[in-house]
Amino acid sequence: MSPFDRDAADELLQPDMMGSEAEIAFEGALRPKSLAEFVGQQRVRGQLQLLLDAATIQNRTPDHILLAGPPGLGKTTLAMIVAHESGRPLRLSSGPAIQHAGDLAAVLSSLVPGEVLFVDEIHRMARSAEELLYLAMEDFRIDIMVGKGAGATSIPLDLAPFTLVGATTRSGLLPNPLRDRFGFTAHLEFYDPAELVHVLRRAAVMLELQIEESALVEIAGRSRGTPRIANRLLRRVRDYALVHGGAATRDVVRSALELYDVDELGLDRLDRAVMNILLTRFAGGPVGLNTLAVSVGEESETIESVVEPFLVRIGLIVRTPRGRMATRAGWEHFGLAAPDETISRAVRPARETARQPLFGDEL
Ligand SMILES: Nc1ncnc2c1ncn2[C@@H]1O[C@H](COP(=O)(O)OP(=O)(O)OP(=O)(O)O)[C@@H](O)[C@H]1O
Ligand SMILES: [Mg+2]
Repeated sequence: MSPFDRDAADELLQPDMMGSEAEIAFEGALRPKSLAEFVGQQRVRGQLQLLLDAATIQNRTPDHILLAGPPGLGKTTLAMIVAHESGRPLRLSSGPAIQHAGDLAAVLSSLVPGEVLFVDEIHRMARSAEELLYLAMEDFRIDIMVGKGAGATSIPLDLAPFTLVGATTRSGLLPNPLRDRFGFTAHLEFYDPAELVHVLRRAAVMLELQIEESALVEIAGRSRGTPRIANRLLRRVRDYALVHGGAATRDVVRSALELYDVDELGLDRLDRAVMNILLTRFAGGPVGLNTLAVSVGEESETIESVVEPFLVRIGLIVRTPRGRMATRAGWEHFGLAAPDETISRAVRPARETARQPLFGDEL
């Protein structure tokens, strides 16, 4: 267990934590059902629409789609929309559930024509299954191995045409042959506050919650650019307003989120721990990701896919060829004076970090 045991407040801000059954049901109810309802990600929406329309015109299954991006930005939602918009059935699976080539063969051979197969966390699929998938994606065919050793033979099996929608928080971990077989890769970006206000307004209507516009803006600012977190914070605000018997005003939002230890930037305890170590123990860096992860007692995967993209995005740290460094804003947010040579502001655009090359000390 990490020294930063996550309590309720932390879980509120963890984009990768799904929480209770009630939470999952709540998320499901708020999921947009069509591309038109899907807020933000304008580029990706346009690209997906084109891809689906082209397939409809040609009366074929849409190309395979890879959805890449940090947790909670809408990958699962988009996969469901792809199936819904093209009027096809959807099969759900995930990388961790596919531990052997046989697991995948069973799924693939039972698909109905045109079905959309969603594989969440596709980077965690077994290697042997990956190889099976190459042929399936390309030719809608698999070779099933029968027997062992010298007597082993492979029996080809034709599959129904299908569309694979893969989702990954770590596209950097996908082997190139797999990545290349997707007709289209959508890189989801963090949402800007105005888009999150839109997400929240929609959710408030669905929850039948009366809430001031300024209160929505306040929640959006603390949601780490992530719709899942925005919706979750909204739920806590609703609870708070309910218990205190008042309207959901901006002040109510502030009090509610203060209670849950969510600061104005939406930093949680793990973010603060990473920043604290970077600033105090490593004098602002540069320091390698693995070293940072070990220092806070977290998995480097969590630091890389959840903590770092957000800290980079809000300009508190930058990635340099020698490691991670605190920016001037990073020092200042923690009330510390920045050393003279500090990088003044993040210059890198907020892309998914997994796409960027790893740096020397990380390998
Ligand atoms: N563009 C959007 N507009 C409105 N709501 C959204 C949008 N994107 C995501 N959401 C909401 O955020 C929640 C989380 O989205 P989703 O489950 O699709 O994320 P994800 O990218 O699959 O996350 P993970 O990587 O953890 O699986 C959903 O319940 C959905 O209601
Ligand atoms: Mg998902």
